Amino acid sequence: MNFMNKSNPIGVFDSGIGGLTVVKQLKQFLPKENIVYFGDTARVPYGTKSNSTVIEYAIQDARFLINKNVKLIVVACNTASSVALDVLREKFGVPIIGMITPGANLALEKTKNNRIGVIGTEATISNAAYSKELLKLNDKVKVYEKACPLFVPLAEEGWLEHKATKLIAKEYLSELKEKNIDTLILGCTHYPLLKNVIGEVMGEGVELIDSGTAAAIVVEDYLRAKSLLNDSSVEGNDLFFVSDMPGKFKFIAERFLGKKLPNIRKIDLDEELSFKN
Ligand code: DGL
Repeated sequence: MNFMNKSNPIGVFDSGIGGLTVVKQLKQFLPKENIVYFGDTARVPYGTKSNSTVIEYAIQDARFLINKNVKLIVVACNTASSVALDVLREKFGVPIIGMITPGANLALEKTKNNRIGVIGTEATISNAAYSKELLKLNDKVKVYEKACPLFVPLAEEGWLEHKATKLIAKEYLSELKEKNIDTLILGCTHYPLLKNVIGEVMGEGVELIDSGTAAAIVVEDYLRAKSLLNDSSVEGNDLFFVSDMPGKFKFIAERFLGKKLPNIRKIDLDEELSFKN
């Protein structure tokens, strides 16, 4: 299998629908790239599961994408990026880009007072993925982390500006506000959807970091450095695969990406993997 080919797609996986926030950024920075997306909607959420389960799922997700001849994999899910990246890199030859290092680097670029907040799922926060990376890159920073698990269902429900969302955001974020942070990493695929509410609660002095944007820039730099940018003259073609509920995925995805998505297919991951391997 040759994944070092310019016209091959970029593979993106997430536990479900949230990784579309990363796809949106990739489309903005790299409109000519073809994308193959896998959303594990049958097994979402990953953020409340054990590390070993998330690693097992992530290996299967990556294998599915590799079978589609992707030239690079973006682990859009912050939870999977937190616990599975090293294993994936050891196991597979294809380049793999996660959310944590790009998000941490961008936050370090932006902070002026070296006080950084991180919000994410229970798994991302309990693994201290961002704080370990931030402190590895700069041991002068102070990092304050907070799990905000209810943000995921609120975003899925489309309650992006709802008063319940504002109330919950105030509750979750009040302790971070007291820490005088000037930068807050949105360390979960879904949180950029709640950017307005989170920004309102945190106030103007706090810069919000979207790890998806940071990762898209890293992907572009990587592909350019390796001469793997797609030089097609037309816009890329995207394929979406999900493990359950393609109709719901289509509805939310079309609303979110602002265009019709004819290429959404439900697959049985076990079947796909046993057939190929
Ligand atoms: N995609 C997950 C993340 O970014 C959020 C949803 C889940 O818990 O699976 O951490």
